[in-house]
Amino acid sequence: MTRILLLGKGGQVGWELQRSLSPLGELIALDHDSTNFCGDFSNLAGLAETVRAVRPDVIVNAAAHTAVDKAESEPELARTLNALAPEVLAMEAAKLGAWLVHYSTDYVFDGSGDKPWVETDTPGPLSVYGATKWEGEQLIAAANPRHLIFRTSWVYAARGGNFAKTMLRLAQERDRLTVINDQIGAPTGADLLADVTAHAIRQVTRQPDGDNDAGLYHLVASGQTSWFDYAKHVLAQAQLVQPTLQIKAQQVDPVPTSAFPTPATRPHNSRLDTTKLQATFGLTLPAWQAGVNRMLVEIL
Ligand SMILES: NC(=O)c1ccc[n+]([C@@H]2O[C@H](COP(=O)([O-])OP(=O)(O)OC[C@H]3O[C@@H](n4cnc5c(N)ncnc54)[C@H](OP(=O)(O)O)[C@@H]3O)[C@@H](O)[C@H]2O)c1
Repeated sequence: MTRILLLGKGGQVGWELQRSLSPLGELIALDHDSTNFCGDFSNLAGLAETVRAVRPDVIVNAAAHTAVDKAESEPELARTLNALAPEVLAMEAAKLGAWLVHYSTDYVFDGSGDKPWVETDTPGPLSVYGATKWEGEQLIAAANPRHLIFRTSWVYAARGGNFAKTMLRLAQERDRLTVINDQIGAPTGADLLADVTAHAIRQVTRQPDGDNDAGLYHLVASGQTSWFDYAKHVLAQAQLVQPTLQIKAQQVDPVPTSAFPTPATRPHNSRLDTTKLQATFGLTLPAWQAGVNRMLVEIL
């Protein structure tokens, strides 16, 4: 039976992975405060010991330092969690002949231009978060050829806080909203990421030539939007789902990124081209609106 070690089980993606990975085999799922095994990414020796003790066939890493602005003031911790700990996982996986599945981000790119980024484009991170995630990708690739790295963007889930929930709350509190309209990307559901991950793991572990499919993939929902259009979509859809919802904000105004200064710089162009993933794994990625609409039904 396939033995899967999942790290970061309580995060947006980790939570959905607990569901999607469970039919694939025996799942050992950990968080940073797990007591049976060490799942704390700031304890590199403990993490290595966990892999040696569990002896998984597949490691799925959903843990990361995802607080993009906070990372600017704690670069060492961000590097440990986003680069050094994934490298430890990759090295220990390699010793076992195991696969490592890992997630990265559109923030590895500098956001220039208006074309979707492909996997062979050269990154140019604008933030500590982006730089540490990119370093993590490179360390994994160097340590273990048996890896799948999925770069994604604008992740949301029904569980926990997210942009749509924030917009809904603000729209009930305020008369008007201002939302950034010069960052373009694709909102991507944690459930979609988890389902695609399970499919990809099956393919690489069960096909005789599965090793050929190792590598880096862009994985986002289809289509593109700005935060501004995303917010408008959420409010309109929420009214359809729940007509009694009291939306106070009669107006949503577009503003440039410069209207909301943040410690970390975000890329303007976060479009990711998913042609490679869809072709390799025989999958069709749904439009971003489908997952967002579904999430709204779940939370309203
Ligand atoms: N969120 C996005 O918009 C986005 C966009 C692109 C790529 N990604 C990537 O997608 C992956 C999953 O992100 P997500 O949205 O699911 O993030 P998330 O909800 O913030 O979850 C991150 C997980 O990491 C865990 N964690 C934090 N510090 C840890 C430590 N020291 N040791 C072990 N675990 C620790 C967290 O545990 P606690 O909650 O218990 O601290 C949590 O379970 C990450 O690789 C992220 O970089 C995310």
